[in-house]
Amino acid sequence: MKQLIQLTVNGELHEVRVEPWKTLLEVIRDDIGLTSPKEACSTGECSACTVLLNGKPVNSCLVLAVEAQSKDILTIEGLSQGSKLHPLQDAFIRHGAIQCGFCTPGMLLSAKALLDENPQPTEEEIREAISGNLCRCTGYNKIVEAILEVAQSQ
Ligand code: FES
Ligand code: FES
Repeated sequence: MKQLIQLTVNGELHEVRVEPWKTLLEVIRDDIGLTSPKEACSTGECSACTVLLNGKPVNSCLVLAVEAQSKDILTIEGLSQGSKLHPLQDAFIRHGAIQCGFCTPGMLLSAKALLDENPQPTEEEIREAISGNLCRCTGYNKIVEAILEVAQSQ
């Protein structure tokens, strides 16, 4: 039995009819049509599906869509201001911190949540903040350098 729920994604209110067992990841991708959160493991191991829920990173494959009602949901689609990239997006590009790009939306959102809470993190704190976001391509150093640069420039 589907139920009507309201989700606020990137500041926009969406009304969707969903089965109560549907995950937030499925609803964001399939019903709302935002494809930046990626599905990889579906078991909370990789954080490719990270979104921010009231500013905190969550694995959206482990959250039911009905649980996300009345919370602010942020995906990468809401990070840039029109055609102007967020400083983290810009730094990731300049540092070559993106290869296949599958982990990138989750990495960026984990980094944003960190810098919102702790604008001047140490390298160790950055590595800790992204430790749940698995990347098979970059070796992490370029990602850490990019986040560190944004932290040092604020
Ligand atoms: S797809 Fe959600 S943690 Fe891997
Ligand atoms: S850039 Fe490919 S998984 Fe991170």
